[in-house]
Amino acid sequence: MKKIDSLIINSSMLITPLGKTAKTGKDAGVLKQIKNGAVAINDGKILEVGTTEKLTKKYITEQTIDAKNGLIMPGFVDCHTHLVYGGSRENEMAKTLAGTPYLKILKDGGGIHSTVKKTREETSYELENSAMKRLDLMLAHGTTTAEIKTGYGLEPDTEKKLLKVIKALNAKSELDIVSTFLGAHIVPKDIPREQYIDWLCTTALTEFKDLAEFVDIFTEDNAYTLAETKKILQASKTAGYKIKIHAGQFNDLKASGFASDLGAVSIDHLEHISDSQLKTMSKNKTCAVLMPGVVYYLNTGKYADARKMLKLGVPVALATDFNPGSCPSFNMQFIISLACKEMKMTIEEAITSATLNSAYAIDRAKYIGSLEKGKQADIIILDIDNPWKIPYHFGGNLVTTVIKNGELI
Ligand code: NIG
Ligand code: FE
Repeated sequence: MKKIDSLIINSSMLITPLGKTAKTGKDAGVLKQIKNGAVAINDGKILEVGTTEKLTKKYITEQTIDAKNGLIMPGFVDCHTHLVYGGSRENEMAKTLAGTPYLKILKDGGGIHSTVKKTREETSYELENSAMKRLDLMLAHGTTTAEIKTGYGLEPDTEKKLLKVIKALNAKSELDIVSTFLGAHIVPKDIPREQYIDWLCTTALTEFKDLAEFVDIFTEDNAYTLAETKKILQASKTAGYKIKIHAGQFNDLKASGFASDLGAVSIDHLEHISDSQLKTMSKNKTCAVLMPGVVYYLNTGKYADARKMLKLGVPVALATDFNPGSCPSFNMQFIISLACKEMKMTIEEAITSATLNSAYAIDRAKYIGSLEKGKQADIIILDIDNPWKIPYHFGGNLVTTVIKNGELI
């Protein structure tokens, strides 16, 4: 018998995608399933996955975690959030419900502009505190890794302040955080357009090299044009950043094909996208990050065509987009429910998309997103006996236990 750090036993079922890269097509719907599954953990990593019977005969440990007939699966990876911000925007709900479009609220100086104002006013301490509370809630709902973007500073000092807060959160929070510079969220009202874009393409890229892994941009009417997108993404890529883009949320400005060919790791939203650009994404294995919580919250009525994407061989990931204006929910279980109900994904596809594929969307698929030997022991236990109960019991929290880097939280 080998002595190890911990053993999770007695599940109704263990389910996980397998591999170190994203799955698409029919493969996205294939999960490994082990009845009465168990996980052996050592040094924060997964040592072995098997049945409870097998692993209890093979290993001894001081920490046995009893899954009590629950479902064991990989922790959720939320690969797209705007989690650090000041204020909140529930005041926009009545306008949205009365039919005012999101881009009209933005054009009239509300929306992202109002969050920018509040975010500039708050201290790092205040921003960090509110963000920590949100991260704790995410963790309780089973998210073990999250990406966080800046984009509510829109001027050099506040963008830097946000990047530093994200760094502090990574150090303090139990979650692993991936940092993205979204200085190109919208164009600030108080800096001339050309001057701001020039900063985004030069000084910002040099100064933020140690603070951000990805650069992102919002390519949309009332945000950045296709020509500006090309310039900013090209400069970011040349400066050594990995790139992502918000595209096709309301209009298809034809930036997705370009970004994919430039080597973007993911393209996010994509409610509006042409088949030819999807084919380019398929060829390059660029991840489509779909965020049905945004469509639900903004009542836009048009969900991304996940079925077509999978058919064309595009890797599909799921994320919340957690932010104060277009999806104030951090609950990946609810996102899975929407993915199944509104985008007609099977539960197997939705789970792959919320774990392994979302890890791929932040370039972490080698380390997280599935339960197999050598991967980080980021594991959740849900109080259910089969995976369809995740979308079925929508809106709540079925997660009872979170294990992060092998530690019971
Ligand atoms: O991904 N679309 C642009 N950015 C965010 C929303 C940000 C906000 O409204 O505060 C999004 O939906
Ligand atoms: Fe977003």
